Amino acid sequence: MQIAPLTDHTGAEVRGLDLSGPVSDDVRTALQDGFLRHHVLAIRNQSLSPARLVQAASLFGEIFPQHNTRFALPDCPQIHYLSNQDSFPDGRRYIPGEGWHTDHSNDTRPPKATILHAVKLPSSGGDTQFANMAAAYEALDAATRARIASLVGIHVYQSSHSARKLMGLSEANKERVPNAVLHPVVRTHPESGIKSIYINPIRIEGILGLDHKEALPLLVELLEHATQERFQYRHAWQPGDLVIWDNRCLLHKANGDYDMNEVRYLYRVMLKGDVPH
Ligand code: SIN
Repeated sequence: MQIAPLTDHTGAEVRGLDLSGPVSDDVRTALQDGFLRHHVLAIRNQSLSPARLVQAASLFGEIFPQHNTRFALPDCPQIHYLSNQDSFPDGRRYIPGEGWHTDHSNDTRPPKATILHAVKLPSSGGDTQFANMAAAYEALDAATRARIASLVGIHVYQSSHSARKLMGLSEANKERVPNAVLHPVVRTHPESGIKSIYINPIRIEGILGLDHKEALPLLVELLEHATQERFQYRHAWQPGDLVIWDNRCLLHKANGDYDMNEVRYLYRVMLKGDVPH
């Protein structure tokens, strides 16, 4: 197995690995180290059934139960799907994952990682972009760092300020998903100890104790800073890719920039994380 960096800050490509069978302890350790070091691993040339994907995911942690079960695969509900073929109740096409975000930050313990496995890809486009929020934090000026050091974000299922609307939750799902949770705007990675900006335009409703007039422009300023190209890795999908990323120190977004007559369909699974500190 070879792990080769894709940029100098985010992303590495993994070759020479077959996740359709058991892997050795050494390989498992190397994968976990590579995930922590590079934040995104693109493991090439896999062809995994949903059940096998659950096994592969468990090399990195425990499965996180996703909030909106309407996307669960009937035969393997731990795996959800992402597809450009779904529509909102009003008939508009639903493109999952558009707009910068980190997954399920409205949970008290948001998932540490998300894994996607490409099943069907458009002939071009549909890349996933990642922004390294630790590098972005590091590049902030001292005054901004001091300003945000002890701020706390209010995260909800759907922020009223977000242009991107999510698919609604069923009544049963609403019962198990928290109404609002509080997370620090600067979080410390529980494994590396590195600080990151932790915001989520789709889920942040506000900042505790700040008027929206102050909070919303600050969130926009942080997002614009953090999503500059110098902090990004852009993943152009290849058939067979399995991509795992670290939600604790990255934002990501899907691109709906391809021919919608073509199908983009991926399996998705998340891994349990910690309470952000
Ligand atoms: C997601 O936001 O989890 C999906 C990203 C993608 O489809 O590229």
